Amino acid sequence: MSDKIELKGVYKIFGDQPRGRALELAKAGVPKDEVQLRTNHVVGLTDVNFSVREGEIFVVMGLSGSGKSTAIRTVNKLHDVTDGEVLVDGEDVQQMTGTTLQAFRREKMGMVFQHFALFPHHTVIDNVGYGLKVQKVDRHVRDQAALKALGLVGLERYAGSYPSELSGGMQQRVGLARALASDPDILLMDEAFSALDPLIRRQMQDEMMAIQDDLKKTILFITHDLNEALRIGDRVCIMKDGAVVQIGTPEEILTQPATGYVAEFVQDVDQGRVIQVHEIMVEPRPLSATETLQEGLQHLGDRAGAFVLDERGAPVAVLTTGDGIRASGMGSTNLQDGLRSDFATCNPHQTLNEVYAAAGRGIPIAVVDEDGRLVGNLDPRHIMEEMGRVESLIDDFEREVFM
Ligand SMILES: Nc1ncnc2c1ncn2[C@@H]1O[C@H](COP(=O)(O)OP(=O)(O)OP(=O)(O)O)[C@@H](O)[C@H]1O
Ligand SMILES: [Mg+2]
Repeated sequence: MSDKIELKGVYKIFGDQPRGRALELAKAGVPKDEVQLRTNHVVGLTDVNFSVREGEIFVVMGLSGSGKSTAIRTVNKLHDVTDGEVLVDGEDVQQMTGTTLQAFRREKMGMVFQHFALFPHHTVIDNVGYGLKVQKVDRHVRDQAALKALGLVGLERYAGSYPSELSGGMQQRVGLARALASDPDILLMDEAFSALDPLIRRQMQDEMMAIQDDLKKTILFITHDLNEALRIGDRVCIMKDGAVVQIGTPEEILTQPATGYVAEFVQDVDQGRVIQVHEIMVEPRPLSATETLQEGLQHLGDRAGAFVLDERGAPVAVLTTGDGIRASGMGSTNLQDGLRSDFATCNPHQTLNEVYAAAGRGIPIAVVDEDGRLVGNLDPRHIMEEMGRVESLIDDFEREVFM
């Protein structure tokens, strides 16, 4: 695999005289705080080196102020660098100006940020096609491209809606579609999902990974959340005070933390053991008691099961695929024949550890609110997947570190 993006010895100093004493000190290895104290200049990046390979998801992770946004902005030259080189497809980004730079930004890369604004008075399709419009692509071609991009994020049906008619998560999807519309090789994503609640966030991560699998984009993804980084990254780069601390695969970061700083972060992943139910539950999509057994089965799709509710919205029975097929095989068309009522319930803030045993029966778990109403559907397979992934990472880590 070739390198798509390369940062080589990149320094970024903020202040009146970025190339003066502050740069000199930073180059001598003086830490960010001290440089600021002595020169009143802020070290945004100090000797940053990394390369993003074609087709990978490369995640830059670090605390607030560690230089993540500064780094991603050097890639499309929203920031000039003070020293060093930024190459995209081997081309020196710093040398680009005017229309070359514009074309480079528009054609090579799509950008998604945490607080991006959709145009409120434009429909979804026009928002998504906006970049192409600026490139004077004609309406028909633009709309085709926009629809295709909307299809990738599952929002084709909303092409004619206005942003205010969409939820926050859907708006963020439109943002992703907008970045995909011009079919760029590279996606730059700065905290793109950070404002979303955990459930939607996971869905977005999954969707992005599916899109990536399909289209093989090169993705530079910024986050301050190590769990997110480990979940989606092919490789993860950890930054602190403008410097790169470690680059590695998620496994390497977990099993061989390069410094105490990384190890401390990794401790937080132990929190993976306490992933909460609401983070992996799926929408309830309950069954209606008036459906036939066959309609009920269709309704399930690829889900493990779905619940029937009483008039208050509390789950009273569940249809699982296995039960439904069995009853249908015996010639029944009556939904009642496939239902069972011996399902487990839990609340959205319980941890996966707590529901693990109940998941062992293979029957979906009903997630209910304080009033007993169904708010989510917990698929035992999803619990096993999530626990399995986290456990194996942590076990490796503990083996390395503690044995
Ligand atoms: N335009 C600017 N002028 C002066 N200093 C800046 C500017 N942009 C960033 N900085 C400084 O550079 C450092 C890195 O900032 P950056 O925005 O890259 O951090 P970040 O890792 O993206 O943080 P966050 O998670 O809060 O977004 C910080 O110390 C910040 O104060
Ligand atoms: Mg930032």
